[in-house]
Amino acid sequence: MKHAGKRIWFNIAARALTILPQKVPTLLTGAGSLKLIPSELEVLGAKKPLVVTDAVLVKTGVVARVAEILNGAGIPYAVFDQILPDPTYEICAQGLAALRAGACDAVIAVGGGSVIDAAKLIRMGATHRKNLAKFVGLLPFRNGGLPFICVPSTAGTGSEATAAAVITDAARHRKQTILDPRLPPNTAILDPLITTGLPPAMTAATGMDALTHAVEAYTNTLHYSDVDVQAIEAVRLIFSNLRAACADGSKVEAREAMLRASHLAGRAFTRGFVGYVHAVAHRFGERYHVPHGLANAIALPYFLDLYREACPERLADLAAAAGLRDHTAAGDAASAAQAFVDAVRSLAADIGIPAKAAFLVADDIPAIAVAALKEAHGTPYPVPLVLDASALETVIRSMLA
Ligand SMILES: NC(=O)c1ccc[n+]([C@@H]2O[C@H](COP(=O)([O-])OP(=O)(O)OC[C@H]3O[C@@H](n4cnc5c(N)ncnc54)[C@H](O)[C@@H]3O)[C@@H](O)[C@H]2O)c1
Ligand SMILES: [Fe+2]
Repeated sequence: MKHAGKRIWFNIAARALTILPQKVPTLLTGAGSLKLIPSELEVLGAKKPLVVTDAVLVKTGVVARVAEILNGAGIPYAVFDQILPDPTYEICAQGLAALRAGACDAVIAVGGGSVIDAAKLIRMGATHRKNLAKFVGLLPFRNGGLPFICVPSTAGTGSEATAAAVITDAARHRKQTILDPRLPPNTAILDPLITTGLPPAMTAATGMDALTHAVEAYTNTLHYSDVDVQAIEAVRLIFSNLRAACADGSKVEAREAMLRASHLAGRAFTRGFVGYVHAVAHRFGERYHVPHGLANAIALPYFLDLYREACPERLADLAAAAGLRDHTAAGDAASAAQAFVDAVRSLAADIGIPAKAAFLVADDIPAIAVAALKEAHGTPYPVPLVLDASALETVIRSMLA
């Protein structure tokens, strides 16, 4: 009864957080859509953007393609390419200094979730007086920041759609989540030619991050119709395309479908929230520096084993989306839910995701559980069942290699 009461409270509180109008970016899609950057800058009234990116994307030539387009249109720009995975407030402050030194009036993020999240903070920092490290938690912003275009180079986080940014507080070894409906960009450009060079292991991990967003949003208790539609379509696209994108990264159709899936899953969780899987994955990221997608991919099936009991009908819907069952077949939710959990495990195995968390140290589990509950219950996430610390410890312990 205590847990049922908590679950209802989490649902109500999370629902209240979604009352504020969400910014939805203009979406430009398709192979070659990158070339639309200049016209978008014009629409946004921007004269000199800062391109925020990282050294890998410079090396792979993706940043050169953006530079060529800007040069071709005669648009001056500056580049900040120092973002590292799981970006810190310090790196964001350096990016903000570069923006000010270059007198830039807009931000273009070209990269994965790490680059996009850092760019979100840089773009907001430019129009606020506060020290960046003060931007934490719910609704920290007073205005919408500079014009902002996102070009995702991974198909995973959906950060180009979300009202979230995850920034690492290096001093406290903690991943801080910032939630604000002003965070999504003005424009998101989903160009599959930007993701064709993503290596198979990163394609697999980031694709499973997108799957986790869709599954957590759908199994959470808000049940908004737009969220449901986005999550179901994301699951369908991921089950039909992730294996192909991992097997042959040059397949533009599979890349395009995965970018769409990641974007839809981002839209879904920005209103439907994530849950325990992310709350635990963030702890794996901050303690062991496990890539975010991989941490989610390993943890997801273990929570689905519980959700099979808590919300079999929701998992049965996802089984239908994954092509496993005609969801009109009545009375068979439990076996359909089991089929979905099995299918998530075999998808993960097929694309090289380990079944166990080899990095996990048994003695760390109690602290991981406490910190994960702080995120999950503190936000709060509208999770389908409520776990206490000892139940969560049991789930995490079962991930030990
Ligand atoms: N804001 C949100 O809504 C949200 C949601 C989920 C995760 N996140 C955060 O996003 C971060 C993870 O982002 P990610 O999974 O996209 O990975 P990432 O951005 O950290 O990138 C991982 C690695 O892949 C490289 N890379 C990226 N694109 C490439 C490409 N096209 N070709 C070759 N290499 C490429 C990067 O240089 C980097 O070394 C984490 O910090 C996570 O907490 C944010
Ligand atoms: Fe995620």
